[in-house]
Amino acid sequence: KEPTVVVVGSLNMDIVIEADRAPLEGETIMGNQSNFIPGGKGANQAVALSRLGAETTMLGTIGNDPFGTSLLQSLEKNGVDTGKIKKVDDAPTGIASILLAEGDNRIVVVPGANNACLSEDIDEQVLKQADLVLLQLEIPLPTVIAAARLAKKHGKMVVLNPAPAQSLPQELLQNVDYITPNQSELGVLSDMVPDAFDLSKAMRNLQKLGVKHVITTLGEKGSAYMSDDSNIQTIAGYEVPVVDTTGAGDAFNAGLSYALGMNMSLDDAVRYASKVSALAVTKFGAQGGMPDKQEILAFKNPSSES
Ligand code: RIB
Ligand code: NA
Repeated sequence: KEPTVVVVGSLNMDIVIEADRAPLEGETIMGNQSNFIPGGKGANQAVALSRLGAETTMLGTIGNDPFGTSLLQSLEKNGVDTGKIKKVDDAPTGIASILLAEGDNRIVVVPGANNACLSEDIDEQVLKQADLVLLQLEIPLPTVIAAARLAKKHGKMVVLNPAPAQSLPQELLQNVDYITPNQSELGVLSDMVPDAFDLSKAMRNLQKLGVKHVITTLGEKGSAYMSDDSNIQTIAGYEVPVVDTTGAGDAFNAGLSYALGMNMSLDDAVRYASKVSALAVTKFGAQGGMPDKQEILAFKNPSSES
């Protein structure tokens, strides 16, 4: 049976500009292309989950404007239940300004309506029906804390993608079963200097704060996870032709949540997540690049292991 997942999080319109390089301070340069693409970490993860086969409901907030409408349409087209998404009149839909240059991205998010996603908007009935609740940090922290608390109250699995980076209170971490920082987010969460840190020590520090399982994404190096035994396991990444890394983390989190919802072991779930994320970076756009179940099944690792 396919898992039922609720994503509580952000919706943004991504304004993507492609240029040969990033402009310097005070400089104007000519770019090559502009695109408006549905994004937001919450919405990206919801779309990816739904494409993988999960029964997916999204809780979040948009403005009463054309961007909001097109974000809703993108979710609906991908089979995500949008019935509980709130629309506000006094704030614009969230925007992400994304500059793609030299194979990398630089992102500025203006949350707008996402800041109006409040604790009281979290529908307890919806959470009750879920197998798993997936959270990020692009909505107000008190809302994330409340969502995790409610989910735990009903015995649900809670996955937190701690992005964008910020340090988090124990009252949130103690209600999180799986946390998925990248290296710099892990540095912030574990209070260690990003460059000079010992990966397993940082992950263990985070476990001590109350999270059972820590999964760190390491970019092209793959990922590492730590369970109850506090031993670190590393999983190699896949070598793929990279087109756009925007949403790679979202794909990973969706894949991990889908697999955990299917009751896979953490080891298998991390491998599955790596696959979803590897496929996502071979295509342009955050939501547009998310693979579906068929693509995952057809994916053969071009480098080594299965
Ligand atoms: O994770 C990628 C997302 O981050 C983009 O879609 C953008 O909206 C920002 O939220
Ligand atoms: Na992509």
